[in-house]
Amino acid sequence: MLDVIVELVRHATQVDVSHYKDSTFRRQLQRRMLELGVPDLDAYVAHLQQDAAELQRLQRSLLISVTRFFRDPEVFARLAEVLAEIVSVRPDAEGLRLWVPGCATGEEAYTLAVLVAEALGDRLPRCPVRLFATDIDADAIAHARRAVYPHAALEGVPAELVARHFVVDQDGVRPARHIRDLCVFAQHDLLSQPPFVNLDVLSCRNVLIYFEGSAQVEILSRFHHALRPQACLLLGQSESVGALSELFQSTDGHVKLFRRRTVPSPRLLELSMGWRRIGTSAASHKARPEPAASLLASERRFHQHLLQRHALPSVLVDAQGQVQHLWGDVDRFLKLEGGKADFSLAGLCVPALRAEVRTLLHLATTAAPSELASMPVALPCLASPSYLLSTKVSVG
Ligand SMILES: C[S@@+](CC[C@H](N)C(=O)[O-])C[C@H]1O[C@@H](n2cnc3c(N)ncnc32)[C@H](O)[C@@H]1O
Repeated sequence: MLDVIVELVRHATQVDVSHYKDSTFRRQLQRRMLELGVPDLDAYVAHLQQDAAELQRLQRSLLISVTRFFRDPEVFARLAEVLAEIVSVRPDAEGLRLWVPGCATGEEAYTLAVLVAEALGDRLPRCPVRLFATDIDADAIAHARRAVYPHAALEGVPAELVARHFVVDQDGVRPARHIRDLCVFAQHDLLSQPPFVNLDVLSCRNVLIYFEGSAQVEILSRFHHALRPQACLLLGQSESVGALSELFQSTDGHVKLFRRRTVPSPRLLELSMGWRRIGTSAASHKARPEPAASLLASERRFHQHLLQRHALPSVLVDAQGQVQHLWGDVDRFLKLEGGKADFSLAGLCVPALRAEVRTLLHLATTAAPSELASMPVALPCLASPSYLLSTKVSVG
């Protein structure tokens, strides 16, 4: 019966709740049944089949969005020391990258942003900082972006930090502009979407605790892939890396702060490590349209027109990565620069895309699957982090 409920929720919300702990799932089911006055599971399933909104409510009941600024002060005091060490050897131009998955309404992300600002001091304007903060809960992300909290939210936060990094007025408290500007909020499902990469710090607190063991292992393996060598992973006080101590080394007994060990990430090229295979099933191959050569000229022109007007911005490159054709609104992503002409895609794309373009092209020329998605990339011209997609086609 639970399997039926998991399927109904997955169908309605695209969220796979089978990865949440059985005990949490059962507890929330009981709660929902009690609230609705439904006598047993059979009756609840019948209710779910009639009421799409209840499927959403059940899925959301699993998201426990409790959080606060500087939750566990001794943890953030330790993190402040670690950040000070990182920035003491980091040239400004290289910047810093942090990710807070399961950020709820934003308090943890803004706490980290305050610590980064404190660590960098006067260097903040010169050092590009990207603090990605994500959650599966769209309402929580909307709250984090609004960034207005009640006065009580700052209780216990040192007064000098409040004075330097928050604006307090009659409506409540808000992180100051220089703190808000460090953070990029996005909706993101930790269970099914690829991680952000090249991170110096990854703080995922009080989230893994809700997932069953194999999902925790999977997510921690992705975190290992996402972190730079020696970078830091921070977990909640009742969480741990469990059996994955070969990937992460504890730095403190009490505070759950770990350093990434420099060992290969497990199963790096598989789907589960963030590179999603898309449309590679036999069925999807069968469903491919006939080659363009067999289309009548008018059909081909019509097809070209649709692509130019409506396709995702797309680029065709040859096996050497040289650009052969462009479709759609590619201007935002490509930039011609002075000097010796370079018509390779990696040379033409804006610098923020370069690493992902190179990785995708490299994987496309090796034994990787024919269809791939990159890690999410965040650009000022995009409303939320987006993926680059690549499809390998053979000619002739
Ligand atoms: C208890 S809160 C933790 C908030 C914050 N990290 C802290 O420690 O103060 C757990 C958060 O995890 C989020 N969450 C649950 N499942 C998730 C998933 N599959 N992907 C991303 N976030 C998820 C929930 O929406 C919720 O906001």
